[in-house]
Amino acid sequence: MVQTNVDRAPSATPRIIAIANQKGGVGKTTTAINLATAIAATEKRVLIIDLDPQGNASTGLGIDRHTRDVSSYHLLIGEASLTEGVITTSIPNLWMVPSSVDLSGAEIELVDEPRREHRLADALAAEGDFDFILIDCPPSLNLLTLNALVAAQAVMVPLQCEFFALEGVSHLVKTIERVKQVFNPGLELHGIVLTMFDKRNNLSDMVAADVRDYFGDKVYKTVIPRNVRISEAPSHGKPVLLYDMRCAGSEAYIHLASEVLKREREWVA
Ligand SMILES: Nc1ncnc2c1ncn2[C@@H]1O[C@H](COP(=O)(O)OP(=O)(O)OP(=O)(O)O)[C@@H](O)[C@H]1O
Ligand SMILES: [Mg+2]
Repeated sequence: MVQTNVDRAPSATPRIIAIANQKGGVGKTTTAINLATAIAATEKRVLIIDLDPQGNASTGLGIDRHTRDVSSYHLLIGEASLTEGVITTSIPNLWMVPSSVDLSGAEIELVDEPRREHRLADALAAEGDFDFILIDCPPSLNLLTLNALVAAQAVMVPLQCEFFALEGVSHLVKTIERVKQVFNPGLELHGIVLTMFDKRNNLSDMVAADVRDYFGDKVYKTVIPRNVRISEAPSHGKPVLLYDMRCAGSEAYIHLASEVLKREREWVA
């Protein structure tokens, strides 16, 4: 249940950012968890919605499977409201709607339902009092991701610095354009974050240079390095920022958060 805050005027409209890339294992969940934690540390109220049946964001934040009674699945099928789905995490200012395995059947269940692409948007339209909502998408351009893109105002794309990275992302960019035309005219590409950058590997540099050539300013200056502490943190049910605040991975996510917040301020200005 959301703790309604005491000393603070409710946020009129939360910024809703979908973290998406149909390619698997590129750092979507890691970015959702750690960016959310870093933003929450600046006193902003942040909600993560785990929209992936794998439930990695829920596990990575230490949410026990047995306490996931109400999940993003229930929001999508209209069985629960946002307030009913939100649970607290061990991190101040960070809440979450966990995922459950039922989510993998949601696509089929919703196929004949009205407004099936708008289910998440409709659920998030309810009173919630968050500054930011980050949606962790599954590795597919399916109805779940489509719901995230329809609900969001902006999309953040984590991109692993490896060969073929650009090919996959151009497909995603086309999908974003289509969603904009058909469902959500305000949708923007917030930015592309280069992940798992390995400075000892020339390929990482080459891919990063290509992506910057192609997408220009849309690529965040912050690059997330490949860092073993980042990969260890989820098995402790913690964001890397809590697991090892001083490691290179944590520093990178803190920088990314300040870059995101700066972009947000410029957006509003
Ligand atoms: N910067 C990094 N350095 C080292 N390991 C990382 C880094 N980022 C992510 N990982 C690890 O790589 C794996 C994939 O990351 P993650 O789960 O965030 O990707 P994903 O895009 O959400 O995957 P999926 O598509 O399956 O949802 C995880 O084991 C994660 O711990
Ligand atoms: Mg994931």
